[in-house]
Amino acid sequence: MRARLALTLMFVSFAGAALAGGDSMRDVMARDVNPGALAFWAGGNDPPDNETPAQARLRWAAALKGAQVLQARGRILMAAPYTRTGRWNADAKLMIDMGAAGEAAARAKDAPKAFEIGGRLYDACAGCHQTYVPKRG
Ligand code: HEC
Repeated sequence: MRARLALTLMFVSFAGAALAGGDSMRDVMARDVNPGALAFWAGGNDPPDNETPAQARLRWAAALKGAQVLQARGRILMAAPYTRTGRWNADAKLMIDMGAAGEAAARAKDAPKAFEIGGRLYDACAGCHQTYVPKRG
């Protein structure tokens, strides 16, 4: 009974693919990369109506933190057990580079620059997904 449970668990972890410290790719994306990107993109987008200066400061602080998360998670994606063959590391590297450039733009609260970097960041997401998650754009 105990042995069978262990085997089942092993199968599940292989099916989930590339687990490190219990984090599946899905965890890394849904918990870290996606919220980080959304926070960063909010820096380059038009501010919400009637945003106060204090709210703007918070929005930029979140954008900066998001850009840092993208760099940190990009580095993790480039290493075992997440890294894969093909264009994977180039897309992860683009995410790191745009995170670094985005961090500087968020520090400067430069919305047009953040918008431009955000577009190139999207290329990293879309490129990797098109190849490795065929159902997603
Ligand atoms: C180097 C490859 C790579 C890069 C770069 C990448 N992703 Fe992903 N992403 C994946 C893979 C692989 C999955 C599928 C994970 C799974 O379901 O097992 C995924 C899934 C997702 C999901 C779905 C998570 C869920 O709950 O099913 C979201 C959202 C996502 N990515 C957002 C992003 C965003 C936003 C970016 C860019 C800022 C990005 N990803 C960059 C590889 C990547």
